[in-house]
Amino acid sequence: MWEKQILLLPGPTQVPPRILQAMVMQQINHRGPYAQKLYAEIEEGTKKILQTKNDNFLLTCSGTGGMEAAVANLLSPGETALVASIGSFGIRFAEICEAFNVNVDLLDYPWGEAVNPDDIAKRLEADNEHKIKAVLVQHNETSTGVLNDIKAISEARGNHPALLVVDAVSGLAAADLPVDEWKLDVVIWGSQKAFMVPPGIAGLCVSPRAWEAVEKCTNSRFYFDLRLAKKYFEMGQTPFTPALSVLFAMRESLKLMLSEGLPKIFSRHAMYRDIVWAAAEALNLEMLAPRENASPSVTAIKAPEGMNANDIIKGMLRDFNVVVAGGQGKLKGKIFRIGHLGYVDGLDLISGISALEITLSRLGWPIENGAGIRAAEQIIRGRIETGACSDY
Ligand SMILES: Cc1ncc(COP(=O)(O)O)c(C=O)c1O
Repeated sequence: MWEKQILLLPGPTQVPPRILQAMVMQQINHRGPYAQKLYAEIEEGTKKILQTKNDNFLLTCSGTGGMEAAVANLLSPGETALVASIGSFGIRFAEICEAFNVNVDLLDYPWGEAVNPDDIAKRLEADNEHKIKAVLVQHNETSTGVLNDIKAISEARGNHPALLVVDAVSGLAAADLPVDEWKLDVVIWGSQKAFMVPPGIAGLCVSPRAWEAVEKCTNSRFYFDLRLAKKYFEMGQTPFTPALSVLFAMRESLKLMLSEGLPKIFSRHAMYRDIVWAAAEALNLEMLAPRENASPSVTAIKAPEGMNANDIIKGMLRDFNVVVAGGQGKLKGKIFRIGHLGYVDGLDLISGISALEITLSRLGWPIENGAGIRAAEQIIRGRIETGACSDY
């Protein structure tokens, strides 16, 4: 019964029926007037989500394509990027830089920790010659469930001219990210996360300062050449045929998101994080992230001592059709991750938690039946009674 699946991945996420229906539209001329209107509406909506006046380029690719586009357009071979990595997507940034012959100064944190902005400040202060051209960092590290303090990281640059490139693929629209106020130079996002849209579109939000770097960059690039993207953007087009159906979905998603409003969206995601944390703690499970950096879009939970996390994931899928994610890289088998972003609600999470409780207890973890659900219900009930979230 795969149709009844409860998808609790940190992307792709479940898609609201209205968005699915919007995708069933006939294809249009991607260089015609309807397409121009479509791109303009998406541009206007995403600017509101990103809280920016900067241009926002639509790329037909996954989030990694957006990361590659940022590196390829900003950093020339032989230049240096300071990559602050707290998990597998941080390492991906470093690998992309290496593929483009960009020198990597790696601040490599243990997986589960957040970036310490003081470390960025120290590295940049020591760089008297301004060799570091850009700082590359994740807003939300999906592999560990850690949310970085991007405002503090941006401020840590002080007077150093390094650009700040933020991979916000899994963080945007789950946690606040006011691009202009925080002076973020490039922000990368993806359609399949908090936008509640299928995969296929990534976006790059580029500041005027970053544009200067794009113009100067000597890297080879073609499909992801932002100079080309800008030329077509000014004509109301994209350089190549975009994933139109995903763009139809994006337009519908932006309508939904903007009618809900950013404060309510953030508050809803904070509630999901609290539900999962409360339930996991009630089941005597340990999270990978420190509480103060807990992600509002995904929670990474350690498998109990002696248990393989993949057995938990398999059990939840086999017996309940509840889909959660595993650990990546060195965390394989050690953690499982519950995604809680986009089109999800408290009762979806309660179903997931119930599946988790039964699976854990069948695998021999001593828990009090219902303890996780009770804790989750208390969070939801608190929200109703304090009026903190009008959905509950
Ligand atoms: C933070 C982050 N960056 C980049 C990516 C890469 O996106 P994609 O898998 O769409 O290439 C992901 C995907 O999960 C992500 O979570």
